[in-house]
Amino acid sequence: MPNIYVTREIPQPALEFLQEEAEVVDVNPHDRILEHEEFLESIAGRDGVLCTLNNKVDAATLDAAPSVKVFANFAVGFNNFDVTAATERGVVITNTPGVLTDATADLSWALLFATARRVVEADEFLRAGRFKGWAPMMYLGADITGSTLGIIGAGRIGTAMGLRASAFRMNVLYCNSSSNSPELDGKGARRVELDELLSESDFVSIHAPLNEKTHHLIGRDELARMKSSAHLINTARGPIVDEAALVEALQNGTIAGAGLDVFEDEPALKPGLAELKNVAILPHIGSATTGTRTKMALMAAGNIMAVLNGERPENPVNPEVLK
Ligand code: DGY
Repeated sequence: MPNIYVTREIPQPALEFLQEEAEVVDVNPHDRILEHEEFLESIAGRDGVLCTLNNKVDAATLDAAPSVKVFANFAVGFNNFDVTAATERGVVITNTPGVLTDATADLSWALLFATARRVVEADEFLRAGRFKGWAPMMYLGADITGSTLGIIGAGRIGTAMGLRASAFRMNVLYCNSSSNSPELDGKGARRVELDELLSESDFVSIHAPLNEKTHHLIGRDELARMKSSAHLINTARGPIVDEAALVEALQNGTIAGAGLDVFEDEPALKPGLAELKNVAILPHIGSATTGTRTKMALMAAGNIMAVLNGERPENPVNPEVLK
């Protein structure tokens, strides 16, 4: 009978499912991310681990916890894993694709609106008691309807982001490492090279996975290619953007604004970012709806139990380890 560790409190239905299926289910009792040493101690001797993107699972972690047959990530992104090391050791890694697509695309739009229409800034102004009545020149923002949206990474979430743009009669450009997005093509979107996307777009929204190729994909040179009126949205992973270069670009007016849900040294922000008026910043809540987080938790729990029951999990990241 399996012994499972869950590294953070998760929605109740998934916990109940695990408690019915496994002999031991222990959950991190603290309302915080475990230090790496605590994580190692907690997973020792377990069969399966349900973890989050905050838990680094590298070769040393895998070697310190040889009993663990499956790590189920409570996230679609899996850059917290050394997948090659896991595959070499026959350890299954799973993730939670699909169920968070709409919630994350919705939040990307929330950030796009927030930065274009200066929602956070205007809210703070009002709450500070500074609103003395309507004025023609107050909080002028950027037009969204009819503008150009550039999507970096047209996978599930990037595609969902792009499909929503037709409601605002936007031109959609996208770049993707592997193939075209038939759904975006069907809506008249155009696949272009990154340089063209950066120079043509009014809004650039990042939806690529983080890997060696996308680390600092957007740096000082790329920001300089964007329109000075453009806004950058990132709900993917912080290190895709050189955050220090972004702070500089926002301070100098190289670009007009940014909407960020993810950060390079999360949870820390690069110096100067939080002081900027022209950014909307959120604490990595792209998938944070009750329904979505419940589906993610159930998916991760189902993945763990499938592996431990000798079945094929729904969402293996390294299917080659499954016989
Ligand atoms: C993910 O799933 O990768 C998000 O960043 C958290 O929902």
